[in-house]
Amino acid sequence: MDAADLSAEQIQACLKTRVFAREIHYLEETESTNSEADRLASSGSPEGTIVVADRQTRGRGRFGRSWFSPPGTGLYLSMILRPPVEPAASHYLVLLSGVACARAIQDLCHTSVELKWPNDLQIRGKKIGGILLELSADHKGLRHLIAGIGINVTTRREDFPEDLRQSVGSIFTEAGIRVSRSEILCRLLLHFENRYFLSLTQGPSAILTEWTQLTTTLGRMLRVSYGGQVLEGTATGIDADGGLLLRLASGLTEKVLAGDVTVLD
Ligand code: BTN
Repeated sequence: MDAADLSAEQIQACLKTRVFAREIHYLEETESTNSEADRLASSGSPEGTIVVADRQTRGRGRFGRSWFSPPGTGLYLSMILRPPVEPAASHYLVLLSGVACARAIQDLCHTSVELKWPNDLQIRGKKIGGILLELSADHKGLRHLIAGIGINVTTRREDFPEDLRQSVGSIFTEAGIRVSRSEILCRLLLHFENRYFLSLTQGPSAILTEWTQLTTTLGRMLRVSYGGQVLEGTATGIDADGGLLLRLASGLTEKVLAGDVTVLD
């Protein structure tokens, strides 16, 4: 598989969505598809517009980290969302994105994908993808959201920087399968679109239930760091917004909306 597995034409050829990807911005190279999608959203591009790049020069991960984005082997996708919800109620869309990615990879590669709260995609315990949800809001509420998805598709072990090799992998390194980035993208968009519109009419509960079936986080003893605060406890569930419920040693349960998670057991 090489750069020939991703182009606007190939995406068009396998698309089955009704609303998503009506507008496709395919770029050979960009700093970050999230930044590009944010610019487009601010100048009025409609919901469902996607930005896809073969490579990113400044791909972003959570907490200001960089996202390794070499050409030819990874999927770098951003979608413009304009859900009619309050900013605080949009958090579940990270989990919905994870479910859509996991289902797409399972369909095409017949391998099981685990979701680690809040935004990691893993195969055999290695991180093969992540989600970065960025929100633009003002005093009137949510202007738009950018759902950014990065998946290491055919990246070889030796292609990753040495400091990442312990914890990171690709679909190819972990499942031994070479799948087309365009096919993954089309499948992912279809799973995303179906669940997204369902959640807007019926609420997120069905998506949260599906997420709990795919996660390896629940029941585990975790350390969660966020904004200088560190909490340790057992993950007992997620609440109606997708926040993680952590039972602390004191017996109290805390809800965490974001954080860096280390599994302790
Ligand atoms: C994470 O696990 O920290 C989230 C990684 C998100 C990476 C994707 S790649 C496409 C989009 N553009 C970016 O700059 N970041 C996201």
